[in-house]
Amino acid sequence: MIVAIATDHGGFALKDTVLQAVREAGHEVLDLGTHSPEAVDYPEYAALVGEAINDGKAERGILLCGSGIGICIAANKIKGIYAAIAHDTYSAHQGVEHDAMNVLCLGGRILGPEPAREIVKAFLSARFVGGDPGQERHARRVGKVRRLEDGA
Ligand code: RB5
Repeated sequence: MIVAIATDHGGFALKDTVLQAVREAGHEVLDLGTHSPEAVDYPEYAALVGEAINDGKAERGILLCGSGIGICIAANKIKGIYAAIAHDTYSAHQGVEHDAMNVLCLGGRILGPEPAREIVKAFLSARFVGGDPGQERHARRVGKVRRLEDGA
């Protein structure tokens, strides 16, 4: 799959590790910046990844900032984006399997490179199970989330 990746300056030091982990997992990277450690505003980078997913240019996204929080809050303001911070591998795959998470958020000032690599791989190897026999409850719950998004 194509994975859109963006970071602000707070996550910049971890970006190359993430790009490499995505490629090692057999996926293609859409690198949407930032391209230097100079300070930038994280909502702009959340928007770039959200647009790439909503325009069909990427299937999933990975966003980084210092804590992962600001860019995750921003991403979740975009319709169709289901972003979460996962700083452990269980959350990284379960968020996709049960909650249809399509954007993984990481804190570049929190996470070391090795945990980041494992978390990225757990995120990318997971798939939403809501369509599987016996797993319909997850599709029902995600449907209710989508209705909240529509203001219902
Ligand atoms: C930037 O200094 C920092 O505030 C940002 O990267 C992020 O951690 C916000 O949540």
